[in-house]
Amino acid sequence: MAYLLGIDIGTSGTKTVLFDIQGNSVASALGEYPLYQPHVGWAEQNPEDWWNATVSTIQAVIHKSGVKAEDIKGIGLSGQMHGLVLLDKDHNVLRPSIIWCDQRTGKECEQITELVGKEKLIEITANPALTGFTASKVMWVKNHEPELYEKATKILLPKDYIRFMLTGEFATEVSDASGMQFLNVAERKWSDEVLTRLGIDKVLLPEVYESQEVSGRVSSRAAKLTGLAEGTPVVGGGGDQAAGAVGNGIVKPGIVSSTIGTSGVVFAYTDKVTIDPYGRVHTFCHAVPNTWHVMGVTQGAGLSLKWFRDNFCMPEKETAELMEVDPYYLMDQQADKVKPGCDGLLYLPYLMGERTPHLDPDAKGVFFGLSARHTRRDMLRAVMEGVSYSLKDCMEIIKGMGIEVNEVRASGGGGKSKLWKQMQADMFNADIVTINSSEGPALGVALLAGVGAGIYSSVPEACEAAIKRVNTQSPIAENVSIYNKYYQVYGNLYRALKDQFKTISEIINTK
Ligand code: XUL
Repeated sequence: MAYLLGIDIGTSGTKTVLFDIQGNSVASALGEYPLYQPHVGWAEQNPEDWWNATVSTIQAVIHKSGVKAEDIKGIGLSGQMHGLVLLDKDHNVLRPSIIWCDQRTGKECEQITELVGKEKLIEITANPALTGFTASKVMWVKNHEPELYEKATKILLPKDYIRFMLTGEFATEVSDASGMQFLNVAERKWSDEVLTRLGIDKVLLPEVYESQEVSGRVSSRAAKLTGLAEGTPVVGGGGDQAAGAVGNGIVKPGIVSSTIGTSGVVFAYTDKVTIDPYGRVHTFCHAVPNTWHVMGVTQGAGLSLKWFRDNFCMPEKETAELMEVDPYYLMDQQADKVKPGCDGLLYLPYLMGERTPHLDPDAKGVFFGLSARHTRRDMLRAVMEGVSYSLKDCMEIIKGMGIEVNEVRASGGGGKSKLWKQMQADMFNADIVTINSSEGPALGVALLAGVGAGIYSSVPEACEAAIKRVNTQSPIAENVSIYNKYYQVYGNLYRALKDQFKTISEIINTK
């Protein structure tokens, strides 16, 4: 029998899943780790934590499945995008990784725009300078920790650090590399022009592959540590969004995904480079050769619900432990008792600033419209609705760019909640489809590994073999009309509060 391994280095943990070649999950394991927030708006993780979680989850999956290591024909890597990993000359990690949701680099974005030129930057990298992207994080280290930057010999993304630890190779692939903002997105190779203008030496960057190409093989050291067979091929893989899209079959026009993980993403396939002139959605290379994608990103999607769970849902957490169920399942039941629209209570999910549609690192979370009638349960539902309004913002921009949307596939942790999917159906006024697998990024990169190992002839063929539609939720007309009314207020709230968000940031930063 042949098997494929998908490893997804997420923000809350690393998930490793072993699949058969029909895409069925045979065994999976999750290794969690902390997120450090030393200042408001900062977010860091330790790359060593990712590696330890990778090793332990691979060991667990091999052990649980009883599969012989030699039968694992390929490995794919997926991971949180944009995070900055710096290695020194001995290939040790130089500082904690500054990860995707960190918002400290507003000034560096201005600097990048000035050095490269606004139009040129969009022409080459397909996107404006953003605090989330790796380039601004590199510039921040250059500006604030120059002695440390001097020592750097490699700049890697999270999953590409894991690739180095597994194979000894310095490599990345086009989908994740697009989010560094050093790539010429149309040509799918590093941009000498951007690198020169930013004063970054190209030798610091890894080699760029297509997502399905073999980028290295498991080293004897990594084989001993993990239980994998030495020489197992590791393909390029993909940033979590492109990988998740492959795992949801978003490999042809018209099918769009809406994913609620820590972040929330609406993702659409394109067969040519399509750019929003206002930069509100990102345009990146897709994990399928010669194709691209457009995606809108809500910074605090699952993150908002997790924040609410950890701070306000102790009863659900305790009961869930006794019942041996997921606290989110009980929270869903509570939220379902509240009417759509929460009697005028709205939530803006900007706990970590926002990208789509506002591109505003200073934006903050807000509950608006509280009355003495509202309870914790209303606030819980408002959080879920606020995240869904934000995904609607992404969807509207994508449609406005003339991109075809015929089917929306829900995925991520939020894709497990029937209630959250219904909210999306009602807000997008579109059918929401659930597919047979909820493994998203891990399945996507396992399928890419299958292409690299010669098991499938192309990524669309791999998706055809593994992905089936299992359920559709349709919009409820009454809810559509309620949400449409509140959506207007939701949009106006940001505009009304924009300047106050900035003032709050200034107060915090001058303390
Ligand atoms: C995408 C993005 C997030 C992270 C974490 O641009 O920043 O989706 O990849 O999931």
